[in-house]
Amino acid sequence: MNTDFLTLCQQIVAHPDLHCRWLNTLSLMENTGARKIAHNEDPIHADLTMLKHAAEEFRHAYYLKKMIGRIDAFACPTYEASFVLAPHASKHYLHRLDVEVCRLLIQSGVTDPARFKAGAYLLVTYAIEVRADELYGNYQNALDEINSKVNVKSIIAEEEGHLQEMQEMLAHFDPMHQVWAEKACAIEERLHAEWLTEIAKEVAQFASLGAPAFNTTF
Ligand SMILES: [Fe+2]
Ligand SMILES: [Fe+2]
Repeated sequence: MNTDFLTLCQQIVAHPDLHCRWLNTLSLMENTGARKIAHNEDPIHADLTMLKHAAEEFRHAYYLKKMIGRIDAFACPTYEASFVLAPHASKHYLHRLDVEVCRLLIQSGVTDPARFKAGAYLLVTYAIEVRADELYGNYQNALDEINSKVNVKSIIAEEEGHLQEMQEMLAHFDPMHQVWAEKACAIEERLHAEWLTEIAKEVAQFASLGAPAFNTTF
């Protein structure tokens, strides 16, 4: 368990306004991930695993948005910046990860276009699934502590399945898959820390002002 992150989750769920924007932020990021998977689908060869993965990530975006209604029926109707925590970092996190993983593949001499595309997709998705496991687990612990009406248990179960699928697909992709995976996770770790710093700043601002600290620009 990541105690720093758990503490942040505890601070977020304690304030309805922050909690709604947190849910909306996660929904935005799930939606970005879902669109990325859908974009990567081969129109002819998309298989059941890929279709399931895209469908479940879209469901996560929808489900998190629905959960907002359990706190405040009128909060965060869209992904406009004022309804999102750390809007710039939240919107660009996945794209930045994608760019850096592509750079890693180029620097490692992966030139075949099909292998490059598959490698980028697998490594980015794998790193995100490792993160999702940790993030939703801590968030659910914070929700349990206050007996919240919000829960993310169904998302946790599906993310565990995704992580396993990504591990299997990576193992087929390259015999050096563990080295690749560690490098992708190291990149993600840095970007995640930057994102979390921005989220923590907004949470601290909210706590000190006792009012929403809206950041209105992406
Ligand atoms: Fe997800
Ligand atoms: Fe996932």
